[in-house]
Amino acid sequence: MEREQWLNWLMLAMICPLIAGAPSSTSKRNVTCPMENLNIVGGSYVLSESFLKYICPDGYYPSLQLRHCQNRLWTPKPSARKPPECKKITCPNPRVLENGEVSPFKDRYYVNDTTTYSCHSDYKFRGSAVRVCKPNGKWNGTTPICGRDSDHCPDPGVPPGSSRTGHVFNIDDKVTYRCDSKLTLIGSKERVCLDGGQWSGTEPQCYAHFTYDTPEEASEAFSSSLKSNLAVSQQHEGEDQQGKKITLDKGGKLDIYIALDASDSIDEEDFDKAKNTIKLLIDKISYYQVSPNYEILIFATDVHRIISMRDFKSTKDDKRLMKVEKDLDSFHYEDKGDRTGTNLAKLYSAIYESLAMEEINDTATFLETQHVIIVFTDGQANMGGNPIPKVTKIKNLITKHDPKREKKLDLYVFGVGADVNKQDVNGLVSQRDQEHHFFILPDLDKVQETFDNMIDEGTSVELCGIHQNYDKTKRSAFPWLAQIYVARPPHGSNCMGSLVTSSYILTAAHCFKSGDTADKITVTLEKDLKAEVGKFVCHPEYNITAKQHLKIKEYYEFDVALIQLKKSVQMSANLRPICIPCTKETNGALRLSDSEGTCKRHEELLMSNELVEASFTSKMKTSSDVPRKIRNIKIKRGKYRDACVEDAKKAVGINVTDARDVVTDNFLCSGGVEPQTDDVACKGESGGATYIDKKGRRIQVGVISWGVKDICTTGKPDPVSQANTRDYHTNLFSADIQSFLKEHLGNDVIGNPLKFF
Ligand SMILES: *[C@@H]1O[C@H](CO)[C@@H](O)[C@H](O)[C@H]1NC(C)=O
Ligand SMILES: *[C@@H]1O[C@H](CO)[C@@H](O)[C@H](O)[C@H]1NC(C)=O
Ligand SMILES: *[C@@H]1O[C@H](CO)[C@@H](O)[C@H](O)[C@H]1NC(C)=O
Ligand SMILES: *[C@@H]1O[C@H](CO)[C@@H](O)[C@H](O)[C@H]1NC(C)=O
Ligand SMILES: *[C@@H]1O[C@H](CO)[C@@H](O)[C@H](O)[C@H]1NC(C)=O
Ligand SMILES: *[C@@H]1O[C@H](CO)[C@@H](O)[C@H](O)[C@H]1NC(C)=O
Repeated sequence: MEREQWLNWLMLAMICPLIAGAPSSTSKRNVTCPMENLNIVGGSYVLSESFLKYICPDGYYPSLQLRHCQNRLWTPKPSARKPPECKKITCPNPRVLENGEVSPFKDRYYVNDTTTYSCHSDYKFRGSAVRVCKPNGKWNGTTPICGRDSDHCPDPGVPPGSSRTGHVFNIDDKVTYRCDSKLTLIGSKERVCLDGGQWSGTEPQCYAHFTYDTPEEASEAFSSSLKSNLAVSQQHEGEDQQGKKITLDKGGKLDIYIALDASDSIDEEDFDKAKNTIKLLIDKISYYQVSPNYEILIFATDVHRIISMRDFKSTKDDKRLMKVEKDLDSFHYEDKGDRTGTNLAKLYSAIYESLAMEEINDTATFLETQHVIIVFTDGQANMGGNPIPKVTKIKNLITKHDPKREKKLDLYVFGVGADVNKQDVNGLVSQRDQEHHFFILPDLDKVQETFDNMIDEGTSVELCGIHQNYDKTKRSAFPWLAQIYVARPPHGSNCMGSLVTSSYILTAAHCFKSGDTADKITVTLEKDLKAEVGKFVCHPEYNITAKQHLKIKEYYEFDVALIQLKKSVQMSANLRPICIPCTKETNGALRLSDSEGTCKRHEELLMSNELVEASFTSKMKTSSDVPRKIRNIKIKRGKYRDACVEDAKKAVGINVTDARDVVTDNFLCSGGVEPQTDDVACKGESGGATYIDKKGRRIQVGVISWGVKDICTTGKPDPVSQANTRDYHTNLFSADIQSFLKEHLGNDVIGNPLKFF
């Protein structure tokens, strides 16, 4: 007995510390699986909370992509005998060309292999004659086809890796495709020759499990599909067609459902990234000048509506997008509940319910509405059953079995991650003529890149403040940036400036001296793009000697100037204007309705805090067109402003009792170490834009003018502030500055004039 009790106690003693040390529920995501035999031949791996991802060098793919750690065991099980390996990426077999020659003729084609195509005599060639195997496992260009073109529809060809049945191409004739074993068919398995001489559906493509779309491919296909569908929704409005511009009524007839997979394989960091991706997508859609309604869902085992279509529509117009943003922000990783499953069936049921609710609310409007469903998923539908019947229900609700109404519904899927189940997902998307609705991208960064690439140049030329945020080493993150040099022997002056319309650069007046002429000014924009200067004009009240009688040696009020270029620059991702407050353009960027747009409202939205987070940039890197450094500051207002202004007295050449004689209300103030240390401006950064990021757009609120002390020495090009080193920025909200900007930018005759309030 005693011995038994003792044994029991001993066992408890041994177990207890184990229990005490066992992972708590929050740390259960720690890798608890054995670390033996995990290596991959020719590559490496990274560990996340519950899985391990294999990585191979360029041109290779891992024979096994992921292992999951569950209950202290890896699936699939590691084996010492047969470790995973990095294999060479191949492109699908191009030797399927009918009635032509492919060279070289090889068994396998690897990355960078070049192939050329030609037709036998009597056959006409279409497609790309030279194709290169790309690192994503696809051939570039388009499918080469040798056809006779004697039938009603052109020969639809045989895409690489596939085979086709059907070789007569008259009206109602069908062709069907299959892909080689181990490849998955994306696109239309079956195509029909239509009356109009076109094939239904989209050309099939054969994807290996390592095949991805590049962000460029996805972006082009997604945005052209989206655009054509937005255009369709406009046609049904019966409004005047203003060129190709898409204009929907506010709160109009476009309903977009966005759903995000948050199942196990998405970790916390990815989850936040995914939320930002949704915001980015909403932002990009707003560039198309439409105001859609949104429902946002996050799903795993269960489905959470972040905001429902009903809620969205019953929120006041101007609060809607803000609400989406707020609700997304306040939804946390932990809120997701059970994350083991990917319940696509339940997701599509939930979307069906919302759609049905919309139909009940207003059937007439429902029938006129374009419905767009965009789902982000790893595609591993592992519970809830087959989602396809639910999707069919959605289709029937919207089309009412009328094929003409099929255009009213767009089903998109973005497959994200290493093991997207392509086969299953292909059945969940629209198969629309010549359009793609299914995209496969390796990770969320690539999805963001896709959306960033999505800006449609045609409709967004006039949009200000757009920039791409994912890569700060690229010019497209600072498309407004201008560097200015004024030649003036023996020393010229260097300044920064900002593109504010397609033909005007805003900078500081003190960059110029009397006697300067336009031909002495060099404006550098994009790398190697020097824009020719037509003229420049300083603020009429700028007068550096105006207060010398008050012991202010140099006086910088109204330190702004505009440089007018001889020609408009061609807008592109690398060349776009920054937003200027109190304009209609900026109203759009801030998502305000016309009636809400006032200068005061802009100032409230941008400058309401006592400490306003803002930035400006250093000069561009030598031999590059991006700034070397972003300088981050807090503009001091309210109780912080007085101390900031007061420090102006410490500047050399200034001897005043009231600092406000030097720093009037027409200046913004930054620098110092309270409550945090700011970055400070260096010589040569004057004239640059002081800007605020708001809703993904950049809005200029100041122009760098002068500072208390120059602490930039050659050895220390990126100084941080000392207690009294303050910088003063010309305040673009001030009425005297506004009137100057309005006079010139509002009457721009070379580029598009800005519309000031
Ligand atoms: C994982 O375990 C380590 C130490 O064992 C701990 O410090 C860490 O917080 C754990 N991580 C999580 C996410 O629980
Ligand atoms: C393919 O060619 C590009 C450019 O020539 C090169 O950078 C890349 O490393 C090559 N990739 C492979 C897998 O050979
Ligand atoms: C495919 O890529 C190669 C090499 O980058 C290029 O020379 C060729 O023109 C491309 N073909 C098409 C059709 O884009
Ligand atoms: C339809 O929705 C609007 C708000 O969007 C609401 O005011 C109205 O009561 C709803 N009608 C029905 C029949 O549910
Ligand atoms: C600048 O101000 C000073 C002092 O008031 C005045 O004498 C001078 O004429 C002004 N210069 C210009 C260009 O207005
Ligand atoms: C500032 O001005 C006052 C009188 O106006 C003078 O007494 C003082 O020496 C001046 N200070 C400097 C640093 O020039």
